[in-house]
Amino acid sequence: MYTMLKKEVNEGLAIVTIDRPEALNALNNALLQELKDMFTELRDDEEVRAIILTGAGKAFVAGADIAAMNAMTPIEGREMMILGHSLMDLIEDMEKPVIAAVNGFALGGGCELSMACDIRIASEKAKFGQPETGLGIIPGFGGTQRLPRLVGKSMAKYLLFTSDVIDAERAEQIGLVEKVVPVGALMEEAEKVARRIMANGPIAVGLVKKAVNKGYDLPLREATSLEIELETVAFSTEDKTEGMTAFQEKRDKHFQNK
Ligand code: CAA
Repeated sequence: MYTMLKKEVNEGLAIVTIDRPEALNALNNALLQELKDMFTELRDDEEVRAIILTGAGKAFVAGADIAAMNAMTPIEGREMMILGHSLMDLIEDMEKPVIAAVNGFALGGGCELSMACDIRIASEKAKFGQPETGLGIIPGFGGTQRLPRLVGKSMAKYLLFTSDVIDAERAEQIGLVEKVVPVGALMEEAEKVARRIMANGPIAVGLVKKAVNKGYDLPLREATSLEIELETVAFSTEDKTEGMTAFQEKRDKHFQNK
C-alpha cells in the first residue's frame, strides 16, 4: 500500500510518480521505504521492462526531509543514510532501465535520486543542486560520489562547496542531464526514450547497464574482461539469434527476453 507514490503500467512501461506535495516530495524514512518497496516490486515484475520516475507538482524531490533530519540523533541520521543508499543501489543494480523525468526541483537527495537513475531528462523548469553544506551537513545519498562521476571532480566540488542551484540548461551543459525539453513535453519525451530502449534486446540492455555500472569503477583491463564475460552471456541468449537473424532477413525483430 503506497501513500506517497503512484504507479501506472502501460505496455511494459511503468511510470512512478512521487506525490508528497506538502513537503515538495522530500524524502523521509517512510517515503524512502515506499520507494524501495516499489522498485523491488518493479524489478521482480516480468511485465515491466522499463521505468520512468517523476514527481508531482513543482518538485521532482526537494531533498531529504529537513524537518525529520533536524530531530535525528547521529545514529538515526546514519540509519536514514543507509536506507537512502540501499534505495540508490537497488535502482542502480536492477537490470531494467530507469529514466528520471525531472519536472522541477531536484535538490540534495532529489538530485542524488536522479543520479542513481540511468538517464535524466529534464523539463526546462527543473533545477538541480546539492545544497547540503548550507545546512551544515554533506550529501548522504551518494552525491559526493555520483556527482563527480557524472560531471567531473572540479565541477562537482564547485557545486558541493557553493550549494549553488543550477537550471536545466546548465545541468545539460555539464553532463548532469541528457536532454532538456519544454515543460509540457517532458513525459512524452521520457516515454519516447523508454520505448526506443524497449525496442532493443532487454537482456542486452540489462547487460550493458551492468557493464557500465560495475565496470566504471574497475581498472580498465578488469572492466574490459567483465565486458567479455557479459558479451558471452549475451551470445548465449535467444535474443542474439533473433536480433542477428532479423537483420539478415531484413525483417522486424521480436525479442523474447530469453
Ligand atoms: N525537507 C522538508 N520539507 C521541505 C523540503 C525538504 N527538503 N523542501 C521543501 N519543504 C517544505 C517546506 O518546508 C514547505 O513546507 P511549509 O509549507 O510547511 O512551510 C513546503 O515544502 C514548500 O516549500 P517552500 O515554501 O520552501 O517552497 P518554495 O517554492 O518557496 O521553495 C525550494 C522551494 C527552493 C525547493 C525550498 O523549499 C528549499 O530550499 N527546500 C530545501 C532544499 C534543500 O536544501 N534540500 C537538501 C536537503 S538535505 C539532503 O537532501 C541531505 C541528503 O543528501 C540526504
